[in-house]
Amino acid sequence: MKVVIVGTGYVGLTTGVALAYLGHQVTCLDVLPEKIDSLKAGKSPIYEPGLEELLAQAEKNLEFTVQYEAAGIQAAEVIFISVGTPQFADGTPDLRYVREAAESIGRHLGDRFAVIVNKSTVPIGSGNWVGSLVREAYRSKNGQKIDDRFAIASNPEFLREGSALHDTLYPDRIVIGSADPRALNVLTTLYRPILNQDFPAPEFLPRPEGYSAVPMVTTDQASAELIKYAANAFLALKISYINEIAQLAEKVGADITQIAKGIGLDARIGARFLKAGIGWGGSCFGKDTAALISTAGEYRLEMPIVSAARAVNYRQRVWVVDKLLGQLKILKGRTIALLGLAFKENTDDLRDAPALDIARELVQRGARVKAHDPVALENARQYHAGAGIEYCDTVEEAVAEAEAVILITEWPDYRKLDWEVLSRLMKTPLVLDGRNFLAQEQLESAGLHYLGVGRSDGQPAMVGRLAAVPLGE
Ligand code: UDX
Ligand code: UDX
Repeated sequence: MKVVIVGTGYVGLTTGVALAYLGHQVTCLDVLPEKIDSLKAGKSPIYEPGLEELLAQAEKNLEFTVQYEAAGIQAAEVIFISVGTPQFADGTPDLRYVREAAESIGRHLGDRFAVIVNKSTVPIGSGNWVGSLVREAYRSKNGQKIDDRFAIASNPEFLREGSALHDTLYPDRIVIGSADPRALNVLTTLYRPILNQDFPAPEFLPRPEGYSAVPMVTTDQASAELIKYAANAFLALKISYINEIAQLAEKVGADITQIAKGIGLDARIGARFLKAGIGWGGSCFGKDTAALISTAGEYRLEMPIVSAARAVNYRQRVWVVDKLLGQLKILKGRTIALLGLAFKENTDDLRDAPALDIARELVQRGARVKAHDPVALENARQYHAGAGIEYCDTVEEAVAEAEAVILITEWPDYRKLDWEVLSRLMKTPLVLDGRNFLAQEQLESAGLHYLGVGRSDGQPAMVGRLAAVPLGE
């Protein structure tokens, strides 16, 4: 099928490359010429594992352009809108890029029937709004109505950065919302290779064992739009829940990693997204929970559970600093090293990254903050030059003279660090593992004082001395 993708961010580019790999003819359009130039040269403008390899394999089915005229919208059967939807200070989404995309598409539509698909996360009801923008733009350009030559569908995206290609080729489900049965037909055809799982898997992204046909949920537009928000908010609150329990675990001398295992084995709860730590960040959870609350507000509804999940999450970032303060007593003039800046491993994305809030808090309290990240340094230097953080190219440089190290991001390489060597560079051998990610024993045998999240920091509860209270009495 002929496909046009507007917006080559994490979502648009991954979708475009995956669809081209599956055999569709895909044109990716972005307003930023530097992104398009880089893509034309076979280089991905974002860090996403496997993307450049798949880009090379799907090259013959891919085109890149900055011009709507050159994107072949007239001939396209499916047009995706996957531009960013950042948020305003009050939590409402900024839809100006969606508007620009919808109007530009409307001006360029031809005679062929096309499905315009919203992949950007948009407020409920936006499908209708996009439809009216397209219609109006077409009419003002051509002086006549467009009739029913296009249909609007919502097709929310559930990919995680860092494993975006895996999530696109092997999703848990595909959700399509549209009032127009033609849209459902077209999109079923588009996604058939994924739904049936009958494409050859890329050698570097093997199909998971036992994984077969993918369920598809076809529904109305509003439901599809709300599914996206409800899914992200649920995942966000699952993490906040384990972080709330972690706070208590620490007080009572329990271990949150054991608790997560113990509750996660209950199939009704599930083990994933129960890792306690400094909380979630990224482009979606913060923005989508805020948007959900603001949408509900328009209907005079409160979302106390979602609001609490946010409050717990942002409290974790301050809690990290308080925990350090509890150990060091004074932060003024201390040197603190951050390992990791990206909001999660395997990405260069710094949107709503906990590292930035933690650094800000430390800097405000008079500490000197040094930071390392294996891939996000370039973005950090470019977009957060004024954050008061010293960006270091090596871990050694970051931890030199540090009076504490905070592990922020679960980069696999951080698990392989030689703490015998690093501890000698540090001024005080203190490590706060913000993700319960490092090997505690290994650090301790290198002479470091290890602090985790939701664990009793090496001081076991004095079980033997407590009088046993029989249960049920
Ligand atoms: C996606 C979704 O679209 C967003 O709604 C969701 O909440 C998070 O995931 P993402 O792919 O991460 O966003 O966005 P981003 O990386 O910011 O990419 C958007 C791209 O669209 C950028 O490359 C930008 O240059 C491009 N763009 C923006 C256009 O091509 N046209 C515009 O008018 C505006
Ligand atoms: C999320 C959703 O998972 C995805 O379905 C949606 O399309 C976009 O938003 P993403 O933000 O890319 O994806 O990454 P994700 O893996 O969900 O991690 C989000 C944040 O939660 C990260 O900061 C991560 O470190 C944190 N996290 C995740 C935890 O703190 N604990 C966990 O158990 C899991």
